[in-house]
Amino acid sequence: MPEVTLLTTGRLDGFDTPNRMVMAPMTRSRASAAGVPSELAIEYYAQRASAGLIITEGTAPSAAGSGYPRTPSIYSPEQIAAWRPITDAVHARGGHMFLQIMHVGRIGHAANRVTDARLVAPSAIRAAGQMWTDSLGLQDNDIPRALDTREIPGVVAEYAQATRHALAAGFDGVELHSASGYLPMQFLSTGSNHRTDVYGGNLQNRLRFVLETLEAMIEAAGSASRVGIKISPAIPFNDIQDDDPAETYSALARAISPMGLAYLHVMRSATLPDVFETLRPLFHGPFLAGGGFGLESGTAALAAGLADFIVFGKLFVSNPDLPARFARRAALADPDLSTFYTPGPKGYIDYPALDNAASSEAEPHRVSRRPEAEPR
Ligand SMILES: Cc1cc2nc3c(=O)[nH]c(=O)nc-3n(C[C@H](O)[C@H](O)[C@H](O)COP(=O)(O)O)c2cc1C
Repeated sequence: MPEVTLLTTGRLDGFDTPNRMVMAPMTRSRASAAGVPSELAIEYYAQRASAGLIITEGTAPSAAGSGYPRTPSIYSPEQIAAWRPITDAVHARGGHMFLQIMHVGRIGHAANRVTDARLVAPSAIRAAGQMWTDSLGLQDNDIPRALDTREIPGVVAEYAQATRHALAAGFDGVELHSASGYLPMQFLSTGSNHRTDVYGGNLQNRLRFVLETLEAMIEAAGSASRVGIKISPAIPFNDIQDDDPAETYSALARAISPMGLAYLHVMRSATLPDVFETLRPLFHGPFLAGGGFGLESGTAALAAGLADFIVFGKLFVSNPDLPARFARRAALADPDLSTFYTPGPKGYIDYPALDNAASSEAEPHRVSRRPEAEPR
């Protein structure tokens, strides 16, 4: 059998993919203050439809789950309706798309929220760090209140509702954002989960919120193969800390393996460099590896059997036709960090695709810099 490369066809959730390249979930802050995706997002995602799979920017399942400025949500009819032309445009170009469901938990500021409700978290521990607000500039994260045990089924139900809404809006599936220090990771991690009920204390209890949420999402989707999960073991982003990430995430991978999920998506970190080697044998399903990959390293990871798909973030921002560029070994454009989160089309839909007439040799080859942007 020929070796699997980034350009080998693949299969996910009952559909064929033209390659093994996944577009990473990336917050781009172009939605309205009320969480309605912008019309610009239609063009933005359609431009990137040649990815084997697009995972959207983190999208809040409820007003309570939103904490950043101009990030989209999927709880109101207007929000759901605004996602429809986006999925239609991607499907019209032969692409596939999962919605990333992101509840911020303790990460957020009142000035960014459309609700007066306080942030909620496993425990009432403020996350160190600041976030941007359009009205007040940089602000400390608010202090969250601890969720009461009886409230937790309601939060889980928000994820199920968002799953139903996503499928109604035409998405092929949904991804649980259990990475980057947001609510599910806050439950998983010893630093942010000091609970003494069945959702905290020991490892099994810390896994409970994520497992119950996945079960609820699977039931809402009608099939586990429409539900994926993203994790980022040992990445300290958003002041998250766990005493033993290898143990926590090995237990999680083992627990979710029998569920039949669409995939496990793992973002690697320098602090746990062998995370793919550790987790891949524990999860019997499609394995997506992300974090700083390029053409060479992605090709090598597939050849080594470390993953089934490679996830690319920043490179997809600045190279909408990334698979075509890799196929031709063409030059790569560098992303402009200053427009990652700014409103409007600049730095969003104005990165050109390669001119079909231009030969790759005619372009100076620039090695893409790897800016240390904030992962979310
Ligand atoms: C602008 C930007 C926004 C991001 N937003 C999200 C997000 O909403 N959800 C998420 O899971 N990861 C988010 N991330 C992390 C990416 O999904 C990815 O894991 C990270 O960029 C590493 O991949 P890369 O080195 O290929 O860019 C974001 C990254 C960037 C650069």
